Amino acid sequence: MKVKTRKVKKSRIDEVDFDHLKFGEMFSDHMFRMDYTDGKWLEPEIVPFGPIEVLPSLSTLHYGQTVFEGLKAFRSRDGGINIFRPDKHAERMMHSCERVCIPQVGKDIFVDAVEELVRLDQAWVPSARGTALYIRPLALAMESYIGVRVAESYSFFIMTSPVAAYFKEGLNPVKLMTSGEFVRSCPGGLGEAKTAANYAASLFPAYDANRRGYAQVIWLDALEGKYVDEVGTMNICFVKDDTLITPSLEGTILPGITRDSVLQLARHWGMKVEERRISIDEVMASIKDGSMTEAFGTGTAAVISPIGEIYHKGETAIINDGRIGPVSQKLYDTITGIQYGEIPDPFGWIHTV
Ligand code: COI
Repeated sequence: MKVKTRKVKKSRIDEVDFDHLKFGEMFSDHMFRMDYTDGKWLEPEIVPFGPIEVLPSLSTLHYGQTVFEGLKAFRSRDGGINIFRPDKHAERMMHSCERVCIPQVGKDIFVDAVEELVRLDQAWVPSARGTALYIRPLALAMESYIGVRVAESYSFFIMTSPVAAYFKEGLNPVKLMTSGEFVRSCPGGLGEAKTAANYAASLFPAYDANRRGYAQVIWLDALEGKYVDEVGTMNICFVKDDTLITPSLEGTILPGITRDSVLQLARHWGMKVEERRISIDEVMASIKDGSMTEAFGTGTAAVISPIGEIYHKGETAIINDGRIGPVSQKLYDTITGIQYGEIPDPFGWIHTV
């Protein structure tokens, strides 16, 4: 792909404290932009990262016709750059676009654009273990119109941000609670699309959980409030009787790329894997009877995030004495080992730049 590039006059990289990175606060010098109008995507360009001009009547601000992705580039042990599974993220973004009527940019363009941008801002890829360049593609309607309809013009952006761990707990287990009152998504809704509305639905319950000392909410299904769907910004997995169990993809949860990587790895190791409905009652009871030995969240931002405690309807269950378990640790070590080019990648997950 040919991308017209306008570079910054002076890089801002000296403003970054690479020893104390946080999540998602600093953005690298450039961003990718491609606009859609009159039924087609126009010439792509890379320009300095900066403000975009929109009117308060921008339809997206009102009705949320927008989708995004989150993937990461890692500094590999040999000094190169590894992007983790960009093709899978491209595929998911195309599905998300379809769900909210945004014209697809195409998987190849997505991957080429990510690669081109990361190559240009390669100095921003941090090198410490646990850090990465987080890549945030975003597509949104760009129409100034406040009637509710599918827009006719769009923009596709990609921005990047050097980051450290998403949770302040890092690899230390997090505490989660169910929400008795709120749901994230329902059958036929938007749950499997990475669109802003799902995150808007999660804000108040997550804020409330934080106030009570919990890191995130465990979402239960909207119809019966019985089955575990996912966690705030992550998918969820359990280890019960040496079997890895994760809620099946039935349209209400996000098809996570880290989730998929975890399932592939567990099967590769010969572990029994079940993608099925799992009720919160089964979770609480099997933590208490000792058959459920681990629980963890999976996500691009969070990687593998062990869960140490679950609160549900007045009861608290502590998992593995609030410590990370061996399966979670092995998954974390293997996935990050592949990402940082420290161990072989038998699955073809790494896209080198
Ligand atoms: C991710 O894991 O990449 C996410 O998109 C989660 C969050 C930062 C919104």
